[in-house]
Amino acid sequence: MPTYNKKTVEDIVVAGKKVLVRCDFNVPLKDGVITSDKRIVEALPTIKYLLSQNAAVILCSHMGKPKGQVNPKYSLAPVAARLTELLGQEVVLASDVIGPDATAKVAALQPGQAMLLENVRFEPGEEKNCPELAKHLASFAEVYVNDAFGTAHRAHATTAGVADYLPAVCGYLIQKEISIMGKALENPARPFVAVLGGAKVSDKIGVIKNLIDKVDTLVVGGGMAYTFFRAMGYTVGTSICEEDKIELAKELLEKAKAKGVNFVLPVDNMIGREYAEDTECRSCPSSEIPDDWMGLDIGPKSQALFAQAIAGAGTVVWNGPMGVSEWKNFAAGTYAVATAVAESGAVSIIGGGDSAAAIEKLGFAEKMTHVSTGGGASLEFLEGLELPGIACLLDK
Ligand code: 3PG
Repeated sequence: MPTYNKKTVEDIVVAGKKVLVRCDFNVPLKDGVITSDKRIVEALPTIKYLLSQNAAVILCSHMGKPKGQVNPKYSLAPVAARLTELLGQEVVLASDVIGPDATAKVAALQPGQAMLLENVRFEPGEEKNCPELAKHLASFAEVYVNDAFGTAHRAHATTAGVADYLPAVCGYLIQKEISIMGKALENPARPFVAVLGGAKVSDKIGVIKNLIDKVDTLVVGGGMAYTFFRAMGYTVGTSICEEDKIELAKELLEKAKAKGVNFVLPVDNMIGREYAEDTECRSCPSSEIPDDWMGLDIGPKSQALFAQAIAGAGTVVWNGPMGVSEWKNFAAGTYAVATAVAESGAVSIIGGGDSAAAIEKLGFAEKMTHVSTGGGASLEFLEGLELPGIACLLDK
């Protein structure tokens, strides 16, 4: 697993300089309105520091997947407006990324001012990590700061390429994410309990493999559990199951046993007639799922079992929901885990995505040690993979 010791904004002179800052402002929107500004709020310490140092701050980010095309649906205009509110000073939005408007606005930007480039994925070269785009963006500034932890697993022009042309350091958010999660993986308070959920084993193989060597207890819920049930010889009705991963699930169970890891699977499930929010539902032991029913959440006994495993933890890492948590009848498992983690008193680290959303919805975010701003990025970090957006930065 890579350990990072990267230079930060405090290790480089930024006073009076133009600084290009890559953030992850890929925030959820509903009808053009931001529904969670967590990623914007988490970027503020770096931006405020740079402004306090009298740097001229050129912010950039992607939003959604516009695939190299200009698409107003993915404009960063709502982000510029929210940043303006949060910073209490105007953050102007350029109408392009490296076009005439961005060029003019960058030229006019004064020390102590901040601006935002339009969605970098409007440029076809961004996701291809095109050197011309990286070089062009680098020409806007004298220093590059990456603070986009959520996008650090992507080797794109603004997340990695630009570091070839400018002195490159990390911001406070990246520093915080890697130090908290790195410590949990390298030197966890024990017992170390990992709770993994989500639909597919295939999405979490790397994480399970990496964590099996580190944890004392591995709790697995969500759709993934049904592939493990098959590996244990149970039938799972019409539940989601990856037939081609059953052998792998067997190997993982054996590996856990050989390592003395306590592998906790659901003992019961909330099952439904079909994959629908209002389907008829009931609880059922894991070994007795009828042929024409499907598991859609962990059951009440499993909630208690999982809560017990979490209650005694020194460190808990949680990534992935326990069921179809956006449906009322199948949300209880995820909420039970969220509650148990909040009440555990353990060092608690929540991977982004659905688990982070559940924590926020319940108002538990303050009770957690760390709720990551990364979905895919935090998963890859937990897998022990190198993150290109961090690897490219200057070492201390
Ligand atoms: C995320 O939301 O996980 C990040 O912003 C990365 O987005 P991407 O999966 O579109 O690269």
